[in-house]
Amino acid sequence: MRNVTMENVTDVVIESLGKHEKISARQGEIMESLIRHLHGFCKDVKLTHDEFLYACDFLGRAGALCSDKRQEFILLGDILGVEVLVDMLSNPVSGNETVSTVLGPFFREDAPVMPKGASTVQKEFEGQETVYVEGYVRDTDGNPIAGAILDIWEDAPNGLYENHDPDQPEYNLRGRFETDETGHYAFRALRPVPYPIPGDETAGELIRYMGHHCMRPGHIHVMITREGYRPLISQIYDSTSDYLDEDSVFAVKEELVGEFRKAPEDADTDLVLRFDFNLPLKSQAMAA
Ligand code: BEZ
Ligand code: FE
Repeated sequence: MRNVTMENVTDVVIESLGKHEKISARQGEIMESLIRHLHGFCKDVKLTHDEFLYACDFLGRAGALCSDKRQEFILLGDILGVEVLVDMLSNPVSGNETVSTVLGPFFREDAPVMPKGASTVQKEFEGQETVYVEGYVRDTDGNPIAGAILDIWEDAPNGLYENHDPDQPEYNLRGRFETDETGHYAFRALRPVPYPIPGDETAGELIRYMGHHCMRPGHIHVMITREGYRPLISQIYDSTSDYLDEDSVFAVKEELVGEFRKAPEDADTDLVLRFDFNLPLKSQAMAA
């Protein structure tokens, strides 16, 4: 095609798909839609060449920031609400299964395996509030799921995850807990506090361009796995936290908001939190 015009450019590019090398139906579907939306976006905003060059430079700088400590593109996707959207598309909810939400960039593999009820707290912080978290993991018919692993992680009262804070011990506020034969789990932890997602570099540049802020409400991350069930990646939010209605990554769901209640006088924590989870069978989830 020698005569590309404003009118035909989108179709010309789409017609080039798979012309010289075989591509799968899925590749074709993804690329056609991507090209249509990208071209539509450029036309909508009448993108200037300077803005195009700025975007190329921005993406280059974002890529250069990626390391095992920081995945800048996940952050950019979070700020744009893309991770939460993709999560909802991948984990549709059709019944009483617990809703999932974003994984975020702070998960670490191989957190310490701990006995039921153990504490993830390895370092004291002034003003910290301890919490006993417990509940049940069940299937969608209410049957207990024994042997499910809950991988837990949260920020410290200074707003930092352990792997971003040289003053916290390795794996502080992280742990893996197994449900007993009744599906019960329990662990001790700290009340999570709101914290800013990284607001420097390209993530901060994007947030400021959007006129948004960096804060997330206080939450405890949980990933639950058990052979035969759909894995759950989710978060429990503190009902009293700031930013529940203005999360910088749009990940709050009403069903995930939990009540951190004052513990009984004789308890060894300041607070208690009860939160139950329902997992669908993998076969059920795939059928849905
Ligand atoms: C988090 O909750 O850890 C998180 C999620 C998305 C972006 C940044 C942080
Ligand atoms: Fe988090």
